[in-house]
Amino acid sequence: MSADSPGALFTPDHRHCDELWAQIEEVADDSKAAAERYAAFDRAMRRHFAMEEEVLFPALEDATGMHGGGPTHVMRMEHAQMKRMLDEMTAAVERGDVSGALDQGDTLLMLIQQHNVKEEGILYPMCDNVLAPAWAELSEKLSKY
Ligand SMILES: [Fe+2]
Repeated sequence: MSADSPGALFTPDHRHCDELWAQIEEVADDSKAAAERYAAFDRAMRRHFAMEEEVLFPALEDATGMHGGGPTHVMRMEHAQMKRMLDEMTAAVERGDVSGALDQGDTLLMLIQQHNVKEEGILYPMCDNVLAPAWAELSEKLSKY
């Protein structure tokens, strides 16, 4: 991972997750293929959340002293909500109900888009500024995910 700022790493990862979702919709009629592609989407989403929650957000919180009530708190709550939806969609896929999972996915996609606008418009630019001195070390940590 050689992105030279947080935004340059995480914004393209949002697009990557969107792309994985679009790939599920392409095979919606083939439940086996859709289940495989769903698994890739689910993994990519959870990896993205983990990279933010375990590395990026703590670094921003430490650098700004904004613990508890700041923007990362809101982002973590939204992640929790989206992870609950992923859990439900995973359960639907495991029961063979791909179309049920895809229906729920429409709601999830809406939440993702609203969430990403906030991260890309506010949080990542903040990280780009505040975390520039720490970025080499942070991107090294993130490369392990
Ligand atoms: Fe994100």
